[in-house]
Amino acid sequence: MPGPSDPRERPIAVFDSGVGGLTVLHELLVQLPRESFVYFGDTARFPYGERSRDELERFAMEVAEELLARGAKLLVVACNSATAAALPALRARMLQTTLGVDVLGVVRPEAAQAVTATRNGRIGLLATPATIASGAYGEAVHAVDPYVDLVAVAAPGLATLIQSDRPLDERLVDEVRRHVAPLREAGVDTVILGCTHYPLIRPLLQRMLGRDVAIVTSGAALARQVEHALDSRGLASARADGEGDYRFLCSGDAESFRALATRFLQLPLGPVERVTTRTEAVA
Ligand code: DGL
Repeated sequence: MPGPSDPRERPIAVFDSGVGGLTVLHELLVQLPRESFVYFGDTARFPYGERSRDELERFAMEVAEELLARGAKLLVVACNSATAAALPALRARMLQTTLGVDVLGVVRPEAAQAVTATRNGRIGLLATPATIASGAYGEAVHAVDPYVDLVAVAAPGLATLIQSDRPLDERLVDEVRRHVAPLREAGVDTVILGCTHYPLIRPLLQRMLGRDVAIVTSGAALARQVEHALDSRGLASARADGEGDYRFLCSGDAESFRALATRFLQLPLGPVERVTTRTEAVA
């Protein structure tokens, strides 16, 4: 089901393991209203955050191919775990395709933003175990400034609590408090939310970190990068007015995705289509 023949009017593809990437999509929809989007939530294989690099690379390739078949002109990996594990391989593979589709990920824009934001040189990172284990943030932060300290805290299970259909409750509050404690003790003045699910609980995090701590998320910086990538490749939509469209794919149950995504996107949801992946979740 390829998109329109004018490559500029093809959709930008965005993907995540679930609904976390909606925090990035939201920013893209607001900053690039003329563009169309197709979003893939790999909900059947959620969570990604405790999977191995090989597994994540395999999943990311499979999702990317599905999105390429939908005519994507650019691929945005709106998942830190998948970016940390698979971005270089994914980029190499996608650029080799006939359409030469570029791939952007979430780790670097946040790292650069955090280094600019910190005043005391101590940056905190809250992310999934897979992202922390990859060391991708350490590399990205230290490439910009080798002298800052990065205090990394893995939060196993936090994305799952956020993506559950239960209301945000005391259990979540206790978990967040536990993960925030080492960051407070280390005296960080800037915290990178290294998982696209975490901005969904930003008020809770900001309250526990303290209002003087700067929180850095993926959305805004990445949206600027997407704009630059489209402009430099002559791929920005030529639409003169009105808004582009957006639609959703997921690998798990479409109605559960619709309910969760409606709650988190805060925009009306278009159609949701269920896609069968080759490897089902084992967890
Ligand atoms: N939103 C994802 C990330 O940024 C993954 C959460 C998960 O699937 O564990 O890492």
